[in-house]
Amino acid sequence: MGSATHTLEAPLVPPLVLGIESSCDETAVALVRGNRVIVAQAIASQEAEHAPYGGVVPEIAARAHAERLAPMLEKVMAEAGVALADVDAIAATAGPGLIGGVMVGLVSAKALAMASGKPLLAVNHLEGHALSPRLADGELAFPYLLLLVSGGHCQILAVEGVGQYRRLATTIDDALGEAFDKTAKILGLGFPGGPAVERLALEGDPKAVPLPRPLKGAKEPHFSFAGLKSAVLRAVESGAHAPADIAASFQQAAVECLIDRLELALDTAGPFPALVVAGGVAANKTVRAALEALAAKHAMRFTAPPLALCTDNAAMIAWAGCERLAQEGEGFAGDPLDFLARPRWPLDPAAEAVRGAGYKA
Ligand code: KG4
Ligand code: ZN
Repeated sequence: MGSATHTLEAPLVPPLVLGIESSCDETAVALVRGNRVIVAQAIASQEAEHAPYGGVVPEIAARAHAERLAPMLEKVMAEAGVALADVDAIAATAGPGLIGGVMVGLVSAKALAMASGKPLLAVNHLEGHALSPRLADGELAFPYLLLLVSGGHCQILAVEGVGQYRRLATTIDDALGEAFDKTAKILGLGFPGGPAVERLALEGDPKAVPLPRPLKGAKEPHFSFAGLKSAVLRAVESGAHAPADIAASFQQAAVECLIDRLELALDTAGPFPALVVAGGVAANKTVRAALEALAAKHAMRFTAPPLALCTDNAAMIAWAGCERLAQEGEGFAGDPLDFLARPRWPLDPAAEAVRGAGYKA
C-alpha cells in the first residue's frame, strides 16, 4: 500500500490490458490502460436470443459467446490499432457465472496468453463489478462500502483493497435484478425486466399496493426478495391494481429493503468514507436517488459508475486486471494457464455460506 506502483500513476507507459467477459448474456471485449483510459471496447447483447424464454438459457448463451467472441476480439484490436504484442496482460472472467460461457472466454484468453507469452489474469466477475467504480472515478480510494446489485448478485461488501473484500450481506434467495426480472415477467413486460419495470413505475403510485419489505428491521444482515416477488404475483392475480401501481410499489419496497440493509451494514461495520453502487440494478434512477440520500445522511461520498460500466462489460474485467498488475508489480507471471473456470467463486471466502445464495454468494 502507498508504494509508487500502487497509485497507478507511476509507470511512464501505463500497462495495456485486454479484457474478456462472457459469464452471462453479454459477450464483451475491451482494451483498458492503467491510467483509466478505455482504449477500445465492444459489447454484444444476447437479449434477442433469450427473450422468447423470459430468462438466460445457458446453452444458448455459451453458443452465442463462442460464435461472437473471436470476431469481436479481432475488431477491437484492429480498431485500436493494437497487436497482441502491445498488450501487457490478458484478463478474462473465470467465474462466477454460467459455466459454458465462462469457459468460452477463459479458453480464448488462455490461447491468446499462450500464443503471446503474456500473463493470463483469471478475474472474478464480482471483483470486476467491485472495482469498476475506480475505473470511472480516479479519486475513489479504499476502503468503500459497496452495494453490488445485479441479476445474479445482491451483496454488500466492504472493499478494503484489491483482493480484500469483506462480505457483509448477501441474498438468501433471489438477487434484486432477478426480482426485477421476475416482476417484469409477472406483469408481462418482457426480458430483461429491470428497465421495463422502471419505465412502468414512472406512471404508478409507489404507495398504492401494500407489499412486504422482507427482512426489513431484521438483525441478520442479509437480503430476501422471494416473498416480495410472490406478493407481486398475488397483487397481479387479484386484479385489483393497475400494473403501473404494482411496478412502482414493487420498486419502492425493494429500495426500502436496500436502504434498511445498508443502514445495518453501516451500524455494524461503518463508518465508511464512501458509498458505491455497482451491477446492473445500479442503472435504476430510484435506487440511485435513495443511495445518494443515504450517503448524504451519513456524510459519505457517493459514486456510481456510468450506466455502461454498471451492467456487464469487459472494461471492468480489463480494469480489474490493471489493478492486479499494479498491485503485484514487476515480474508478475499471472495466473496458471490451467486455471479452471469456476461456476461459484465467492469474493470473500471467509464469509459463511448462506442457504439459497447460489452463485450469488
Ligand atoms: O450486472 P448485470 O448486467 O448482469 C449480471 O451480472 O446479472 O445486471 C443485469 C440485471 C438484470 O436483472 C436487469 O433486469 C437489471 O440488472 N437491471 C435493472 C435496470 N437495468 C438493468 N434493474 C432495475 N432497474 C434498471 N433500470
Ligand atoms: Zn454482472
